[in-house]
Amino acid sequence: MPSFASRLIAWQRRQGRHHLPWQNTRDAYRIWLSEIMLQQTQVTTVIAYYERFTQRFPTVQALAAAPLSSVLELWSGLGYYRRAHHLHTTAQSIVNDCGGAFPDTQEQLMTLPGIGRSTAAAIAVFAFDRRAAILDGNVRRLLARHYGIEGFTGLPAVEKTLWALAEKLLPKQHLETYTQAVMDLGAQICTRSKPLCGQCPLRSDCVAYGQGRVHELPTPRSGKAPMRRDFCLLILRRNRHVLLEARADRGIWSGLWSFPEGEIRKKSHDALAALIRERWGLTLTEAIVQPVMVHKLTHRTLHMTPILATVSGRLRNMTGREARFFLLPEARQCALPAPVRRLLPQAFP
Ligand code: ADE
Repeated sequence: MPSFASRLIAWQRRQGRHHLPWQNTRDAYRIWLSEIMLQQTQVTTVIAYYERFTQRFPTVQALAAAPLSSVLELWSGLGYYRRAHHLHTTAQSIVNDCGGAFPDTQEQLMTLPGIGRSTAAAIAVFAFDRRAAILDGNVRRLLARHYGIEGFTGLPAVEKTLWALAEKLLPKQHLETYTQAVMDLGAQICTRSKPLCGQCPLRSDCVAYGQGRVHELPTPRSGKAPMRRDFCLLILRRNRHVLLEARADRGIWSGLWSFPEGEIRKKSHDALAALIRERWGLTLTEAIVQPVMVHKLTHRTLHMTPILATVSGRLRNMTGREARFFLLPEARQCALPAPVRRLLPQAFP
């Protein structure tokens, strides 16, 4: 039987993806950008963001020179905003400390913010034709199934086994095709919930398939459920404007604009009126409590109760955070978390 790598390479040539916007280039900037966007986000979502981003910032110099707020604006909706902060910092460091050229080895790439071992390997392979192993979520799943590796893949011991395996499996040639192949097979065939084993070139010696355990592997994370947070989102409307607040530099949605948060206990009309007066000097005239929205993040599940509040008076902001009233088209231009963007039309009935 041909080796693991040669079966993957043959599959990639026939069935893999060849025309993604970040393929067929050796431009390290474009490759880096795509790998950061793809870290927690699927290809189909990334494509439009990637196109917009590269149009606006065609080079690492353009990105480094831009204000963080425009980077966040273009990132808005992709989630995991720390990636955008790191992207901007790294672009500035490439321009200021490295003369605009990306380092060309996995080790050096790993020293940059936001670039872990696997992302560094992908950039080294795709941009610099280096020999390096990737181990992203897709590859972890594929290896855990194929070799019947037990245990949650985030555990250090399991991770160590997987890295050793990923390195050992690297072919002598065609690293680029091989790397794209493991990513694509993981994304298209060896998927988490409905794997297409019938179409898999690695099926004949796949441990999970042979033992009928494809759905048991990789072993899920045990124990802790994500922490739940309950809060209100205050949608303050005044004439045809809505109030948005700049979020703190730390915590979720850092650096983005959002509806202000309120405590869930303050839902009664009087409590809400007092809070709005204390924070922004505004008068509440009407409040409508909306159904709860649930939004899952990696370690937290947000239970958000939007409150549509009509207010009047002059804005006297006493919160210490920047806050402004925006018209709808202006609000749409801001860097907003996805759930806030989804709620925006409700603020403008
Ligand atoms: N996921 C992470 N990197 C990728 C790439 N270069 N192509 C497709 N999916 C990916």
